[in-house]
Amino acid sequence: MPATDTATTVTDALHRRRSVRAFSDRPVDPALLETIFATAQRAPSGGNLQPWQAVVLAGEPWQAVKDAVAGRIAMGREGYQPEYDIYPKGLTDPWETRRFGVGEGLYAALGIPREDKKGRLGQFMHNYTGFGAPVMLFLHCSRIMGPPQWSDMGMWLQSVMLLLVEHGLASCPQECWAMYGETIRQTLGLGDDQILFTGLAIGYADEAAAVNQWPVPRVGLDEVIDWRGFSR
Ligand SMILES: Cc1cc2nc3c(=O)[nH]c(=O)nc-3n(C[C@H](O)[C@H](O)[C@H](O)COP(=O)(O)O)c2cc1C
Repeated sequence: MPATDTATTVTDALHRRRSVRAFSDRPVDPALLETIFATAQRAPSGGNLQPWQAVVLAGEPWQAVKDAVAGRIAMGREGYQPEYDIYPKGLTDPWETRRFGVGEGLYAALGIPREDKKGRLGQFMHNYTGFGAPVMLFLHCSRIMGPPQWSDMGMWLQSVMLLLVEHGLASCPQECWAMYGETIRQTLGLGDDQILFTGLAIGYADEAAAVNQWPVPRVGLDEVIDWRGFSR
């Protein structure tokens, strides 16, 4: 289903939300974003800590982050400043197969064959333009926070993403920005006591783009839910 249609139920919003990797240049009304963030404040958090904090960028400040990160990218591997391990080291199955599968689906939709390493890298590097999104949100929290508070950040993030869908907007969460965390924090004036979790590219989807149209699979319930004490 197109990501920019509006949704009227939570079920609808869940089915319509997808990671959008091509945006139109239509600007986003900051008043609408404010409404969305105000509603997302209803997200739950352990002890009601509400540990999430975000910087929301458009225009010149957004460009400044892209420019700063481009400078680090130009340094090659030397430029990496990972905030955390994006995936566990030595990821095993079933998770490695799922990760591999989503990459294959994406590149197949774009007609980029496995041997075309340059083409695949080129697509990955679109991440660092926010896929053309006019708005970028950087989600961070205090470094003292642990796994429970990181899960709280995830709940807030999903709340924002679903609300964006409800209002006809689209998004792509992007933890790839955490590869250049220090540069981003410095550019945004965030202290070293903060840790950058993820970016969230926000805008209106480019409906025609093939990258926004391939089906992203999910595993069956039998792989994730262990029912006990029910007669089914
Ligand atoms: C916290 C988080 C970080 C992500 N980071 C990236 C990223 O850096 N680049 C990207 O293209 N997709 C990223 N994704 C999108 C996932 O690949 C996507 O959610 C997953 O494949 C399921 O697809 P869907 O969101 O379209 O349903 C991220 C998703 C989450 C939740």
